[in-house]
Amino acid sequence: MAVEADIDIELLKSEIKKTYSSVSQEPERDFIFPTGRAWAEDLGYPPELANVPESAVESFAGVANPWAMGRLAAGERVLDLGSGAATDSLVAAQMVGPAGHVTGIDMTPEMLAKARSAAATMGVANVEFVEGEAERLPFSDASFDVVISNGVIDLVPDKDAVFAELYRVLAPGGRMQIADVTIQNPVSEEGRRKIDLWTG
Ligand SMILES: C[S@@+](CC[C@H](N)C(=O)[O-])C[C@H]1O[C@@H](n2cnc3c(N)ncnc32)[C@H](O)[C@@H]1O
Repeated sequence: MAVEADIDIELLKSEIKKTYSSVSQEPERDFIFPTGRAWAEDLGYPPELANVPESAVESFAGVANPWAMGRLAAGERVLDLGSGAATDSLVAAQMVGPAGHVTGIDMTPEMLAKARSAAATMGVANVEFVEGEAERLPFSDASFDVVISNGVIDLVPDKDAVFAELYRVLAPGGRMQIADVTIQNPVSEEGRRKIDLWTG
């Protein structure tokens, strides 16, 4: 199954970029989803959140807490899929320490700029941010020990492509800690064509 819905993928991607560019540039706005530090605290984020600069956390737009599945070990190589403004990447950078490495990937340039600037403010050297798409990861096979992701895969119609890529880039024995939105009942064709339902 290549794509789950008869929608214009390029249009959908450009609407998603618009939405998350706005989350990065105007974090004080009211979105139809919760954002910011108070939301991450409500979700039970780990103590490392306190060290993540406000410039990142103000644009946190996760849907749940991937850290509820466990912490990372020192030295691990981590991929943050759809890293946004970098809250999870910068939590991960503290957990894996200087011997580990965190790579955030996102397709929205404004989010990437915010993430890079927050990493510089925090002074961490073990994090990098790459522009790219979840369905076509620009990384070698078996190059990560852990994938973390928060609120991203629900935005991608071709989920099979994303998971194929995640399995490809994870090293044998690797793991995923994914927080996301799932549905319990099929969505109608008409519902699937509504771009607004995808972007939020
Ligand atoms: C709901 S936000 C979550 C951001 C971040 N994980 C957080 O918790 O704050 C979704 C992010 O996924 C990115 N995104 C959506 N679809 C993507 C795709 N196909 N490839 C890469 N990034 C994508 C968006 O640009 C946005 O930054």
